[in-house]
Amino acid sequence: MSQAFDVVVIGGGPGGYIAAIRAAQLGFKVACIDEWKNATGGPAPGGTCTNVGCIPSKALLQSSEHFDHANHHFADHGISATNVKIDITKMVGRKDTVVKQNNDGILYLFKKNKVTFFHGRGSFVKAVEAGYEIQVAGAKEETITGQQVILATGSNARALPGVPFDEETVLSNDGALRIGAVPKKLVLIGSGVIGLEMGSVWRRLGSDVTILEGLPTFLGAVDEQIAKEAKKAFDKQGLKIELGVKVGEVKTGKKGVSVAYTNAKGEALSIDGDKLIVSIGRVPNTIGLNAEAVGLQLDERGAIVVDAECRTSLKGVWAVGDVVRGPMLAHKAEEEGVAVAERIAGQHGHVNFNTIPWVIYTSPEIAWVGETEQQLKARDAKYKAGTFPFLANGRARALGDTTGMVKFLADATTDEILGVHIVGPMASELIAEAVVAMEFKASAEDIARICHAHPSLSEATKEAALAVDKRTLNF
Ligand code: FAD
Ligand code: NAI
Repeated sequence: MSQAFDVVVIGGGPGGYIAAIRAAQLGFKVACIDEWKNATGGPAPGGTCTNVGCIPSKALLQSSEHFDHANHHFADHGISATNVKIDITKMVGRKDTVVKQNNDGILYLFKKNKVTFFHGRGSFVKAVEAGYEIQVAGAKEETITGQQVILATGSNARALPGVPFDEETVLSNDGALRIGAVPKKLVLIGSGVIGLEMGSVWRRLGSDVTILEGLPTFLGAVDEQIAKEAKKAFDKQGLKIELGVKVGEVKTGKKGVSVAYTNAKGEALSIDGDKLIVSIGRVPNTIGLNAEAVGLQLDERGAIVVDAECRTSLKGVWAVGDVVRGPMLAHKAEEEGVAVAERIAGQHGHVNFNTIPWVIYTSPEIAWVGETEQQLKARDAKYKAGTFPFLANGRARALGDTTGMVKFLADATTDEILGVHIVGPMASELIAEAVVAMEFKASAEDIARICHAHPSLSEATKEAALAVDKRTLNF
C-alpha cells in the first residue's frame, strides 16, 4: 500500500523545504521529494539556491573579495602582503564544503521536524479520492499519496537559442561556480544579477572580464541614481560592461569561445574568451512533473499558473517560488512556502510583494526595497528624496569603503517611506531596517528619530531619512 501524507512537497529548494517544515510544525504528516544529487549521487536538498545559486556564489564572492583586499587594500592599513596567491582548487573545495553543510543542515531539519524525505523525481500519476497519487523515481520506485500537494520545482538557466550549455566552455550558473582555473579572458552575456556577481568573482581573481548586455540601460530595475553610482564603481574596477549589444553567432573550439556581436553604435565586432557565462535569466522548471496527467495549467513562459495565494488550477495543489510568477528570489520562495502551509492549515498566511528586498552581492553591494524614483515618476507620485553618501559616514571611513550612498524616497504628503535604495558597504544587511520600516508603514521621520549606534553604517540610513527633510547632521 502506498504511504499517505497530508502534504506532499515536490522540490526541496528554499520554497519546498521551508514549506515542508512549516507544514510539519502545523501538525501535518509531510513528505518532501527532491531529486538533486551531490557528487557521489547522494541527496543534496536545498535546490538551486543551496547547490548552484545563492550559497556557493556568496562563498566565491567572499573568497575572491579576500584576495582582492590582500592585493589592493591591505597596504592602506599598513599591512604588506606580497606575492599573494590563490589556490582555485582549494577555494572551490571550500565552496563545496559550505554547500554540503547546508545540504546536511536541511536533512537534519527534516528529521527534527519529522518530514519524510524522498530522494528522487516526483511526478503526478493521477488524481484520487484522497488527493493525488505521486510517483517517486529514485534508487527505488514508490508511489505515495498527498491530500495537498505543494509544487516547488524551481527554475533552470535560460540558454541562448542554438547555444546549449556544455558547462566546459559555455557555462550556466552551474559551470560558472565550478571553473577550475582563472580564465585569462572571460565573456559573460547579460549584466543582470548573475552576470555582475560572477563577473566580479573572476575579475577579482585576475580575469579580463567583459559583459555583453542587450539592453541600453544598466540595471534597468534598479533606481537610476543607484545604478549609475554602481556602474561608476564597476568601471573603476575594470569590469567591462558593454550595453545595448546584439549578440550574434557564438563559436566554440579548442581554444575557447568567440562571440560575434553588434555594439550600440551598430558596429559588427567579436570577442574571444576562454569561457563564456550565459546569464540571461531563468525559466520555470516543470520538467518531469507529468503535469499533463492531471491537467495542471501552465502559462506561455512555462510557469505554473497560480492565484495571489499560490493556488494552482487544481484543487489541493499549490505552487511556490521560481516556478510561479514574481521575482526569482530565495526569500520570496520561502515566504510563499510558509504562507501556503499556513493556508492549508486554515490560517491567513500572507506575503507582501511590496516589501521583498533585492540584493546584488557585488562590491559595492546594491540593495533596495520598494519603488524606485523612475517608478514614482511614471505613476506621477508626489514624493521627496533624501540621500546620504558613505563618504560622510565615520564607520565607512574606518572600514576604508566609502563608495555609494543610501537613498530614501518618501510620500510628499504623509512622509511614508516608499522605497529605500542603497549602494555601498553591507547594503545587504542595511536594507533589513528599511524592510521593517516599510512593513510597519513608517515615515522617513520615524527612522530619522530612531537612535542608531555610532559609529555604524546604519547611521547613513538615519541620515538619508533626515535628508528627506533636508536636515542631515553630518553632511
Ligand atoms: P529551487 O531552488 O530551484 O529548487 C527546486 C528543487 O526542486 C531543486 O532541488 C530541483 O532538483 C527539485 N525538483 C524539480 N523538479 C523536481 C521533481 N519533479 N521531483 C523532485 N525534485 C524536483 N536568490 C536570492 O534570494 N539571493 C541570492 O543571493 C541568490 N543568488 C543566486 C545565485 C545564482 C547563481 C542563481 C542561479 C540563483 C540565485 N538566487 C538567489 C535565486 C534563487 O536560487 C532562487 O530564487 C531559489 O532557489 C528558488 O527556490 P525554489 O525553491 O523555488 O527552487
Ligand atoms: P537577470 O534577469 O538578472 O539578468 C539577465 C540580463 O540579461 C538582463 O540584464 C537582460 O537584459 C540580459 N539579456 C537577456 N537576454 C539577452 C541577450 N540575448 N543578449 C544580451 N543580454 C541579454 O538574470 P540572471 O542574471 O540570469 O539571474 C536570474 C535570476 O536569478 C535573477 O533575476 C534573480 O532573480 C536570481 N538571482 C538572484 C541573485 C541575488 O538575489 N543576489 C543572484 C543571482 C541570481
